[in-house]
Amino acid sequence: MAEPVRDLTHDFDPLEPETFTSAHALYREMRTRCPVARSETYDGGFWALFRYEDVKHVLENPAVFTTTVQNTVPKFAFTGRRPPLHLDPPEHTAYRRVINRFFTKGRMAALEPRVREFAAGLLQPLIDAGKGDIAVDYAQKFPAHVFAAFFNLPTELAELIKEISAEYVAAIQVVDTDNVVRLSRRLYEIAQAVIDERHARPMDPAEDLTSALMAAEYEGAPLPPDMVLGCVRQLLVTGMVAPSVFIGTMFVHLSNDPDLARLLRERPERIPAAVEEFLRLYGPYRGMARTAREDVVIGGRLIKAGEPIALVYTSANRDERVFPDGETFRFDRPNLSRHLAFGGGVHTCPGAPLARIMMITTLEEALARTSSFEVCGEIAMARWAEWGTNSVPMRFEARA
Ligand code: HEM
Repeated sequence: MAEPVRDLTHDFDPLEPETFTSAHALYREMRTRCPVARSETYDGGFWALFRYEDVKHVLENPAVFTTTVQNTVPKFAFTGRRPPLHLDPPEHTAYRRVINRFFTKGRMAALEPRVREFAAGLLQPLIDAGKGDIAVDYAQKFPAHVFAAFFNLPTELAELIKEISAEYVAAIQVVDTDNVVRLSRRLYEIAQAVIDERHARPMDPAEDLTSALMAAEYEGAPLPPDMVLGCVRQLLVTGMVAPSVFIGTMFVHLSNDPDLARLLRERPERIPAAVEEFLRLYGPYRGMARTAREDVVIGGRLIKAGEPIALVYTSANRDERVFPDGETFRFDRPNLSRHLAFGGGVHTCPGAPLARIMMITTLEEALARTSSFEVCGEIAMARWAEWGTNSVPMRFEARA
C-alpha cells in the first residue's frame, strides 16, 4: 500500500467570491483532482472532503470523528456546549430522544395547514405586486413564522430570533469573533427567557419541546439545566438558517427550467419528488465539521488527531460515483434517499420532516398562484459555511 501523504498545501479557498454555479463547478473539479483537500483559510486551517463516500465514512464513525471540538468550519461555538450537535453518543442520545418525538408524522400533519397559511400569506403580496425578492421578502421571513408555531413562541419573538440569527451567521461568515460572541450571548438570553417563561406558565411537555427538555430524564436524573439551555439555544438557530438560503435556489432553478415549472403546475403531485431532488442538488451545508480523535488516512492523505474536517455535503450530493449525471435535475433517481442534504449518522437532521413540509408548501402555493415567474436581477449568494441565495429579485405573473 502507498504511504499516506502528509501534505499541507493550500488546495482551495472557501472565501472566493461565488456565483450561483461557481462553487459546484469547483467542487466537481475537486472531486476528481483533489477530493481530500487542505485549506489554510481560518485559524489553523482545515481539511475538506468533497466525495460522497469519504463524507459518509466520517458520518458513520462518530467514535473516531467527534463533534465535541467544533461542529463547523470555521469554529465559532465559543460560548458553551449546545446539544445535540456538540455532543457525541451516548450523551447525545438523551437529547435526540426528546427532540425526535416532536417531528412525528402526526405532529407534522397537524402543523401543515399553518405552515401553508404562512407560505400563502407571505407569497401573495409579492405576486400581487408582480415582483419581489424571494430570498429577502419570503425565505428570510417564512422560517420565523413556522418556528414560532412549532416552538409555541410569539411570532414577534421568533422574528427577533431570526434577525439575530441572520446577523450571527453574517458575523461567522466574515469571522468577526467579537460579534459572534456578542450575538450568541444574546441568543442565550432569549433561550433563557423562553425557559423562564415555561417555569412561570408551565406547558404540557407532550406539546412543547422546551417543556419536554426541562422535564426529561436521562439515566434517572434530569438533564442538566445548562445543557437544556444550550439545547434550546441550538434549536433557535438550526431551524432558521438552512431554509432561508435554500428556498431561493428552487426558484432560480425553476426560472431556468420553465418546462419543469410548467410540469409541476400541471401535476402538483410531483412537487415532493422535485423538492427532494432540489435538496440533493442545492443542499445548503458545506462547513459542518468533525475532528479526528486519532491520526487517520483518508484518500491517501494523513489527517492528524485534533485537525478539523469539513464535510462538504454540497459537493458529496453531486458525486457522479453515487448519483450518475449528478449535476442534472432528474426525477425519481433510484438512490435519491441516500442524499446528504440532511447529513447522516447520529446527527442526521431531526427537522427534516418539517423542512420538507416547508419546501413543498412553498412550491405548491407559489406555482398554484402564478402562471409564470422569473429571476429579473442579480442573485446574491450566501458565503461559506452555507451555500445558497441571499437575494433573488423576481417577477411574478399571477394566475388569471
Ligand atoms: C432545508 C432545511 C434544513 C436542512 C438542509 C438541514 C440540514 C441539517 C444537517 C445537514 C444537519 C447535520 C449537521 C451535521 O452533520 O453536523 C442538521 C442537523 C440539525 N438540524 Fe437541520 N436542516 C434543515 C432544517 C431544520 C429544521 C427546520 C430544524 C428544526 C426545527 C432543524 C434542526 C436541526 C437540529 C436540532 C440538528 C442537530 C441534530 C443533532 O446534532 O443530532 N433543521 N440539519
